[in-house]
Amino acid sequence: MVVTGGARGIGAATARLLAEGRARVLVTDVLDAEGEALVREIGSGALYRRLDVTGPDDWQEAVDLAERSFGSVNALFNNAGILAWASVADCPPEEFRRVLDVNLVGVFLGIRTVVRAMRRAAGPVPLHRGDLLDRKRVRRGRRRRHRAGPAVAPGLRAGVIIVSRITHRRTTWSRTSRACWSG
Ligand SMILES: NC(=O)c1ccc[n+]([C@@H]2O[C@H](COP(=O)([O-])OP(=O)(O)OC[C@H]3O[C@@H](n4cnc5c(N)ncnc54)[C@H](O)[C@@H]3O)[C@@H](O)[C@H]2O)c1
Repeated sequence: MVVTGGARGIGAATARLLAEGRARVLVTDVLDAEGEALVREIGSGALYRRLDVTGPDDWQEAVDLAERSFGSVNALFNNAGILAWASVADCPPEEFRRVLDVNLVGVFLGIRTVVRAMRRAAGPVPLHRGDLLDRKRVRRGRRRRHRAGPAVAPGLRAGVIIVSRITHRRTTWSRTSRACWSG
């Protein structure tokens, strides 16, 4: 199992839970000190590897390491993400592009790389940050569209869902996995 953004927060909590359930977890992040500390705490079921989700080479190296270390990779938690706090009117284009790169292109690169390993392992489909949770939030975002505040996140969540669905349809092969995605 590969967890991105796993050095802290939701990713770290997920890695701990997975390891408790005896999964072997590759914790990845750009926060090396926190990531290394987490895998020391978890113990032998976890490894840490630096992975910037915007980098295709980082992805390949991390997945290669997980396959060498665990024998196979059969699940991915595409958790890493950043926020842009500015409202649309104030958000610099480069900040918007950075959020897209991490939160959306990163998801695509993760699926693209891990699905090849999953095909080799013939395991379950990727888990994604924001499957049910994000869909609810997108709906809530529509109802509250006139409120002030950060406006980037709901659109990105929708993008993550669409990228995930499209890549899922094109890369998976079982009814079971489809049911998992339809939530
Ligand atoms: N906490 C919430 O209420 C909430 C709500 C909705 C969505 N989310 C999403 O869930 C995910 C986890 O949230 P969290 O609260 O644990 O956030 P967090 O900021 O605590 O953790 C995110 C992790 O992603 C890592 N990261 C950032 N950029 C990266 C990159 N380029 N490559 C690899 N790792 C990178 C960070 O270093 C960090 O460890 C995020 O994607 C967030 O947007 C969180």
